[in-house]
Amino acid sequence: MPLVTTTEMFKKAYHGGYAVGAFNVNNMEIVQGITEACQEQKAPVILQVSKGARKYANHTYLIKMVEAAVQECPDIPIALHLDHGDSFDICKSCIDGGFTSVMFDGSHMDYEENVKIAKQVVEYAHAHGVVVEAELGQLAGVEDDVKADDHQFTDPAQVQDFVERTGVDSLAIAIGTSHGAYKFKPGQKPQLRFDILEDVSKRLPEFPIVLHGSSSVPQDFVKKVNSYGGAMPDAIGIPEEMLRQAAEGAVCKINIDSDIRLAITAAVREHFATHPADFDPRQYLKPARQAVKDMVTHKLINVLGCNGKA
Ligand code: G3H
Ligand code: 13P
Ligand code: ZN
Repeated sequence: MPLVTTTEMFKKAYHGGYAVGAFNVNNMEIVQGITEACQEQKAPVILQVSKGARKYANHTYLIKMVEAAVQECPDIPIALHLDHGDSFDICKSCIDGGFTSVMFDGSHMDYEENVKIAKQVVEYAHAHGVVVEAELGQLAGVEDDVKADDHQFTDPAQVQDFVERTGVDSLAIAIGTSHGAYKFKPGQKPQLRFDILEDVSKRLPEFPIVLHGSSSVPQDFVKKVNSYGGAMPDAIGIPEEMLRQAAEGAVCKINIDSDIRLAITAAVREHFATHPADFDPRQYLKPARQAVKDMVTHKLINVLGCNGKA
């Protein structure tokens, strides 16, 4: 099946009480690890590409790798999504370049500017059969090397006006998740504002909600990284049961990047420490790819609930 948009995926996820995983891709091993897991589990999937990924791997390489995955995984729907597009131009470039979904992230802009550009992106995207995600509120954490210390939770009173005026197809909201591997301070009780999520979903019935910053930062990866010479003290993520709860409601897309980075780093560090004579990249990238696949398989079954839904 060719690349798809997220429209059908989200409709089924909303009514089925599960969420689709949106995993960031930056190289071949990541694309393979994710899609092999999804193919085996018969799970729909969103492969997402950030501005940084395009800079690192080049748009054409990324597109061709995703096309290869589509060919290798004939049984599952795959969407190709631009993550955190910060201008009309980058969204247009991805729409013209074969993406089926784009995020226009105007969350750092003032409200009217966010509405104006999101609407412009929607008009262009919809004319080309592409869907659009936008964001209201701001996440704490690291995004494109910029660190924000405080959450600005989404104001539920704005969501209806925003969706009506822009025509976006899905909306990312800020309820306490954050980008990166340090989402809560040590000793702090992880909490999400489920009251905001509930309020938003009442105001936007049947409308797909997106959660960014939703890595769980599995502690076995953190321990492995640290025990093999890494330095990631106090890395903490979103508890899996909270993501499961969100997925059962209006949240249809859950973004995961940091857990991929951690899975790879833990596997590569372990390999180097236990096989010091190895120098063929295939020797350490193979376990890294397997670690991504195992981590994604766990998410599909135990967190997102989208296994068997393709
Ligand atoms: O939300 C940010 C994603 O984790 C992408 O990160 O911009 O470093 O590729 P990146
Ligand atoms: P994490 O840093 O929690 O993996 O979030 C990724 C993300 O939101 C990508 O847009
Ligand atoms: Zn994000």
